[in-house]
Amino acid sequence: MCGIVGAVAERNVQGILLEGLKRLEYRGYDSAGMAVLDLQGHLQRGRALGKVAALEERLTREPLPGRCGIAHTRWATHGRPSEQNAHPHQSGERLAVVHNGIIENHEALRRELEAEGYVFTSETDTEVIAHLLERESRQAGDLLAAVRRVLDRLDGAYALGVIHAEEPDVVIGARKGSPLIVGVGIDEAFVASDPLALLQVTDRFIYLQEGDAVRLSAGGRIEVFDATGLPVEREIQVFEHGDGAASKGDYRHFMLKEIHEQPMVIAAALEGRLGERSALVESFGPEAEALFRQASQVHIVACGTSYHAGMVARYWLERYAGIPVQVEVASEYRYRQVVVPEGTLFVTLSQSGETADTLAALRFARERGYLASLAICNVPGSSLVRESDLTLMTQAGPEIGVASTKAFTTQLTALMLLTLALGRVKGLDERVQADLVTALRGLPGLVARVLELDPEIEALSMAFAEKHHALFLGRGALFPIALEGALKLKEISYIHAEAYPAGELKHGPLALVDSEMPVISVAPNDELLDKLKSNLQEVRARGGELFVFADEGVGLEEADGIRVIHLPHVHEALAPILYTLPLQLLSYHVAVLKGTDVDQPRNLAKSVTVE
Ligand code: G6P
Repeated sequence: MCGIVGAVAERNVQGILLEGLKRLEYRGYDSAGMAVLDLQGHLQRGRALGKVAALEERLTREPLPGRCGIAHTRWATHGRPSEQNAHPHQSGERLAVVHNGIIENHEALRRELEAEGYVFTSETDTEVIAHLLERESRQAGDLLAAVRRVLDRLDGAYALGVIHAEEPDVVIGARKGSPLIVGVGIDEAFVASDPLALLQVTDRFIYLQEGDAVRLSAGGRIEVFDATGLPVEREIQVFEHGDGAASKGDYRHFMLKEIHEQPMVIAAALEGRLGERSALVESFGPEAEALFRQASQVHIVACGTSYHAGMVARYWLERYAGIPVQVEVASEYRYRQVVVPEGTLFVTLSQSGETADTLAALRFARERGYLASLAICNVPGSSLVRESDLTLMTQAGPEIGVASTKAFTTQLTALMLLTLALGRVKGLDERVQADLVTALRGLPGLVARVLELDPEIEALSMAFAEKHHALFLGRGALFPIALEGALKLKEISYIHAEAYPAGELKHGPLALVDSEMPVISVAPNDELLDKLKSNLQEVRARGGELFVFADEGVGLEEADGIRVIHLPHVHEALAPILYTLPLQLLSYHVAVLKGTDVDQPRNLAKSVTVE
C-alpha cells in the first residue's frame, strides 16, 4: 500500500505534494515524508512519524521549498512505523526514493549491498532501491537508465518515485504490480498512486501500464516508456467525478458522507443499464451476450467487503439465473489447484481494482481456461479493469473512508444487474425480470428512506459503546450482510464481532450468549422469516439482548430485551442492499461514541496492494 506523489513544476511543489499526501492518506498513515531538490539543486528531506498532519506541522517549522519533489505516506510492511523507516529513503545526499509495494528479494540485495560497503539506516525493503540506484547511477548515462538497471534487479511489486540532484528538474516514476498514474498539468507534471491525489492541480491523467516507466521534466514534459524500454504513447484520460469527492462537505467524516451518497450512487450504477422490463446485457460490453450464453458456471473472487458482495451474488445467481456459483477470497483462491469446468465465467469484485490478491487471482485465472473474465470495479483505468475481458463500473465515485460503504452497495447493485443479464440469456421468466427491474428502479428511494432512520440508529448505538463483543445473525442472502455488519463494527469501533447464519447458532455460538452479548439481526420479509424468528427466540431464552432490523410488515414488535427498528418493505431479492445501511450507520455511531478514527481505523488501509 502506501501513497506516492511526485511533482515537477515552475512553482514551489511543497503544497502540492502535501495536499496529495493528505488525499492519499487512506492508503496508509503511520508515517509520512517528503524530499525536494531546492532552488540550489540540493536534496532536502523531512519525515515524521504518524499521520500527514505531523509532517505538515514539521514543514511549517522547517519548510521544503523546491520545484521538483517526491512524497510518501506509509503503511508499514517491513519495519515498524518510525521516522527512520519513513520514506523517502536516500543513499548519500543526492538521491531519494519513495516506494509502494514489496521487494521480495530485498534480503539478498541487502547482503550484496552491505558487502559492498553500503550502510543501511532503516529496516525497510525500500532502502535497497536507494542504494542500488546510487550504485547504478554512477555507471548509467542518466537517471532513467539507472532506474531501469535497478528495476531489472527487483522481484516483487512496486510503484516508485525517484529524484536525483544530478538532474534537478526530473522525477522518474515506474510501476509493476502497484498503481501509478501521471497527472498532466499545464507546464507541470505529476505522478501519484491515484488521481484523487492530484485533483487539486489537474483532471487529466495517464494510467501507466504494467512495467511502464515515466520521466517527468521541466515544462510539463512527460515521456513514457514500456517494459522493454521503448517510448510509448499512452492515452490521456479526463477524470469525470470532479473534486467534490476529496472533501467531507458538511459531514463530520468521509464515511458518513459516503453512507449518505448511497441513494445517488445506486441510481448512477443503474443509469443506462435497465430496459423497460429487463437489464441491458450490452452494459457488460459488446461481447457479453455471446459469452453469457455460453456461461454454465460462475467463479467469483474478491477480498474483504467485496468478498461479501460476492457471497450475496451466489444466492442471486443460483436463484434467478440457475447457474452454479463458487465464491472465494482471492488470497486462498490463487494458491489452490482450481478445477475449472468448461464454460466458467470468472468474476472479480473490487472497489479499487488494485488489490494485490484479487489482481493475482485474475492473472492466475487467465491461465486456467476460463470462458472469460469480468471485473466489477469502481475505478476506471485500474489494473483489474484493464486486464479483464469484460467490465462493469460500479459508478460509486471515489470512496475515501477506509471502511467500504457505498462501494459495497453499488457492487451489489451491479451484481443484481449481472444476475438479471445472465437470467435474461438463460430464460428467466419475463415477469420475474420485470418485477426485479421495477424494484431496482425504486431502490434509491427506499435507501433514502432508510437513511432517515439515522437518529433512531444513533440512539441504539449507545447500547454498544461499552460492549466488547457482538454477534450478527442473518439467513440466506442476508447472512453475508450479517458478515459485512460484523466486519464494519470490527473495522471502525474495534469491538470484536462475529456473524453466523442464524440456523448455525445452536451449534456453538449460542454458548456465548448472555446479557453482555448484544445480538444484531436483519429480518426482511422473506421465506426464511419464520425460521429466523425461532432463532431469535433461542437468543431471548438465554437472556441475550436482541437488536432487530425488521420489515415493517413482519409483526416483530419491541418487547423486553428486543429492540426493533422497522425498515420499509422491499422486494425480497433487494433486501441485502437495503439492510446493509442500518448496519453501516450503527457501526459508524458506535465508533463515533468510542472516539476512534472513523475514516482511518488503526492498522488498516483502503487499498491493499501488497499480498
Ligand atoms: C481493504 C479495504 C476493504 C476492502 C478490501 C478489498 O481491506 O480496507 O474495505 O473491502 O481491501 O478492496 P477492493 O478495493 O479490492 O474492493
